[in-house]
Amino acid sequence: MSKMRNKAIEILKANWRDGYTVPSKNLYPYQWKWDSGFIAIGLAHFDQKMAEREVETLLNAQWINGFIPHIVFHKVSDTYFPGPNFHRADLHPLANKEYPSTGMTQPPVLGFTLERMHEIAKDKKESLQFIKNNIDRVYKNHQYFYNNRDPKDEGLVYIYHNWESGTDNSPLWDPIFETIDAPVYNFERRDTSIIDPSERPTKREYDYYLHIIDIAKEHNYNDAKIAEFSPFLVQDPLFNSMLIKSNSALISLYKMIGGNEDKIEQLEQWQEKSITSFNRKLYDKDLGAYIHYDLRNDKPIRMVSSSSFSPLYAGIPNKDQAEALVRTMMDKFGGEDMYLCASFDPSTDKFNPKKYWRGPVWINLNWMLYHGLLDYGFNDLAQRVKSDSIEILEKVGFYEYFDPRKSIYKGDVKGYGGSDFSWSAALFLDLTEN
Ligand code: GLC
Repeated sequence: MSKMRNKAIEILKANWRDGYTVPSKNLYPYQWKWDSGFIAIGLAHFDQKMAEREVETLLNAQWINGFIPHIVFHKVSDTYFPGPNFHRADLHPLANKEYPSTGMTQPPVLGFTLERMHEIAKDKKESLQFIKNNIDRVYKNHQYFYNNRDPKDEGLVYIYHNWESGTDNSPLWDPIFETIDAPVYNFERRDTSIIDPSERPTKREYDYYLHIIDIAKEHNYNDAKIAEFSPFLVQDPLFNSMLIKSNSALISLYKMIGGNEDKIEQLEQWQEKSITSFNRKLYDKDLGAYIHYDLRNDKPIRMVSSSSFSPLYAGIPNKDQAEALVRTMMDKFGGEDMYLCASFDPSTDKFNPKKYWRGPVWINLNWMLYHGLLDYGFNDLAQRVKSDSIEILEKVGFYEYFDPRKSIYKGDVKGYGGSDFSWSAALFLDLTEN
């Protein structure tokens, strides 16, 4: 184990770029929002200062309206498409002038990241000071979401692009793309020259991705216009769970700091409204799972993915719902021949064990699942998620995503996507801490 831990630390040090960490050297040469949170948790295990700088750098890229972008393009790189010149976040009048970025976001990880970093920190006094200096910027980000991403005032925020979900090419989005008339773009992708195309999204899927961005650009990334015109508008249980988890973390941290009663009260109000709506709108009793809601076409997306179980991490389900989730997980994902937890329902024909978010196991989702199951007292299953994660990483190394079928782990098998992937290394450090 200590050999693996040393290797994980080595990867994180190698992917460090003086203030932030790239997710994977060639494939992802910038700073990504939710990666940054998970990475900071890993960094905190061996270097508190590095972890704090990671978070601070991301926060420095925040916009005037509280928005935090999904990618911060710190340096120009020709190994990634689409770059800053395609995204043109500067079209938004409140965009950050100093840090070129995308005009979309990613799941709100920073609240629970700060809380976890503080638990890990050896120097609690310094850590508390760091939190005091930065927490208001995270609060402002939550305020941005509730004020701008919730047009029906439900306490559930929307995402307007599949890249905002973090689960880029999940089959969840297929029915939405069918409603969109995207042009055929002419462009050169970089990911498929680095990674086997069978493990990546297709060219046609990229046309949709680019088209949705072009529509947002036509409206200068104005939130109200996006809510009105974006062909992709979804309430995502994973995204909202992370927001809710981060709300609770902010409440605890503000209480620890003292004062800030107005912010605590506001967070509690958001929290109550969000959790009530979440259970009313995103819980599908017949499936025994949480699902996504297509706000643009006003209909539920009745499919089960690893995101369906993420509300456990945020304390959203009641006891009966939690038990139903576990039953669904075991029925569909938990066979003895499978590692937990596939990213998409293995009992359907959309499942593809090799392709990105259409089936492979991802360590960050497993990390959330592990903590959620523990919180609800499903200790044995939590231990299985943890030992499955460790076993896969030990077998093939710190890849980006992994085949859930146990039978293929023979001989010279590898993981999929980028190697030396930062959050796999970071969350391994957190899962195996002493
Ligand atoms: C891929 C993943 C996304 C992640 C990014 C950087 O796009 O789907 O979740 O943030 O890579 O690692």
